Amino acid sequence: MKTILITGGAGFIGSHVVRLFVNKYPEYHIVNLDNLTYAGNLENLIDVSQAKNYSFVKGDICNNGFISELFAKYNFDGVIHLAAESHVDRSIEDPNSFINTNIIGTLNLLQNAKNKWQDQNGKLFYHISTDEVYGSLGETGYFTEETPYDPRSPYSASKASSDHLVRAFYHTYGLPVVISNCSNNYGPNQFPEKLIPLVINNIKNNKPLPIYGDGKYTRDWLYVVDHANAIDKVFHEGKTGETYNIGGNNEWKNIDLVTKMCDIMDKMLGLPEGKNRSLITFVKDRPGHDKRYAIDASKIKNELAWEPSIKTDEGLELTIRWYLDNASWLDNVTSGSYKEYYTKHYSK
Ligand code: NAD
Ligand code: TYD
Repeated sequence: MKTILITGGAGFIGSHVVRLFVNKYPEYHIVNLDNLTYAGNLENLIDVSQAKNYSFVKGDICNNGFISELFAKYNFDGVIHLAAESHVDRSIEDPNSFINTNIIGTLNLLQNAKNKWQDQNGKLFYHISTDEVYGSLGETGYFTEETPYDPRSPYSASKASSDHLVRAFYHTYGLPVVISNCSNNYGPNQFPEKLIPLVINNIKNNKPLPIYGDGKYTRDWLYVVDHANAIDKVFHEGKTGETYNIGGNNEWKNIDLVTKMCDIMDKMLGLPEGKNRSLITFVKDRPGHDKRYAIDASKIKNELAWEPSIKTDEGLELTIRWYLDNASWLDNVTSGSYKEYYTKHYSK
C-alpha cells in the first residue's frame, strides 16, 4: 500500500483531489493535511471521511517540527501539495500569510521530503501551481511551459517563488518533482470570495454583483473535476522534473461570464428575464489587475492525453445547482469572518 500526503485537501480543489484518489485508489492510504483556515472545511469531504484508506490530520505546513514528525510517522511515497493562501485580493490587503504558507510552508515540505527520501525510488513531490506566475497577456497569445515568469500580485509572486524552490530542489538535490500550472477553476466547494461563487451567493441574496474596472479582464475557466483528473494524470504519468500547463481552452471576459450566469439564474430561480443583470455594478478596479490569462495546454494533451471534458454551459449549471442545493454549506462558510472581509473589501 502506498501512502500519499495531500496538503490542503479540505480546500476547494484539494477536496476534489482527495475524493478522486480515495475512491479510485483503494490501494493508497490518503493522508489529508490541512490547517482548516477560513477556506478549509471538512464538510467538503463528508462522503469520504469514513473511508478505510483516508486519514485527516489538522496541522500547519509552516510548522517545521510538526511536518518532520508527520514525515517520520507516515513513510510517505508521494506528496501532492495544494495547501496555500489562494486569493489575490486578500494578498493585496495582507501579503504576510501568503509568504509564510506559500513559500516557507512549501520549503518545509521540500526539506522534509528530501531528508526522508534517501531512497528516492518511486517517490514524487507534486507541486500544484497557477498560471498567474506567468503574468498578464495582451489580446493574443497563450502561456506555454516556456513562458518566462512575471508575477504581478503578492499571491502570484509567492506561488512563483514556491515553483522556483521546487525546481531548485530537483536540480540541486535530485528530489523527484513535478509541477503543474493551472488556469482559473470553478465548481462546488469554492469559497465565495472568488468571482463565480461570489456572484451566485450575491444573486441568491439579491445583492450587487461587483465587476472590477471595465469588466473586460479575461480568464480561462476550468471545471474543478477536470483539474482533479489532470492532477491524477500528472501524478501517475508525468515525467519527473517536468512542468505541465493545465487549462480549459475556455476564455471569458468577466462581464460576459457574469451576464451569462445572471441569465442562467433568472431561469433557475423563475425570475423575470433581465432581473439579475440589473444587479451588475461596476466597482473600483483591483490594483495591478492582470488583463488576460490563457493557457496553451497542448503539452498535457499530447503527452498525457488529458483534455477538459466539461463544457461551460454544463459546468456552470452544475456549479450553480450545487450552491442552490447546498444552502447550509454557503451559510456556514459565510458566517463568522466572511461578513467582515466582504464589507471591508467592497466598501473601498
Ligand atoms: P483554497 O484556498 O480553497 O484551499 C486551500 C487549502 O489549504 C484550505 O483547505 C486551507 O485550510 C489549507 N491551508 C492554507 N494554509 C495552510 C497551512 N499553512 N497549513 C495547512 N493547510 C493550509 O485553495 P484552492 O483554490 O483549492 O487552491 C489549491 C491550490 O491550487 C493552491 O496551491 C492554488 O495556488 C492552486 N491553484 C488554484 C486555482 C484556482 O482557481 N482556485 C488555480 C490554479 C492553481
Ligand atoms: P478571482 O475569482 O478572484 O480569480 P483570479 O484573480 O485568481 O483570477 O477573479 C477572477 C476575475 O474576476 C478577475 O479578473 C477579477 C474579477 N473579479 C471581479 O470583477 N469582481 C469580484 O468581485 C471578484 C472577486 C473578481
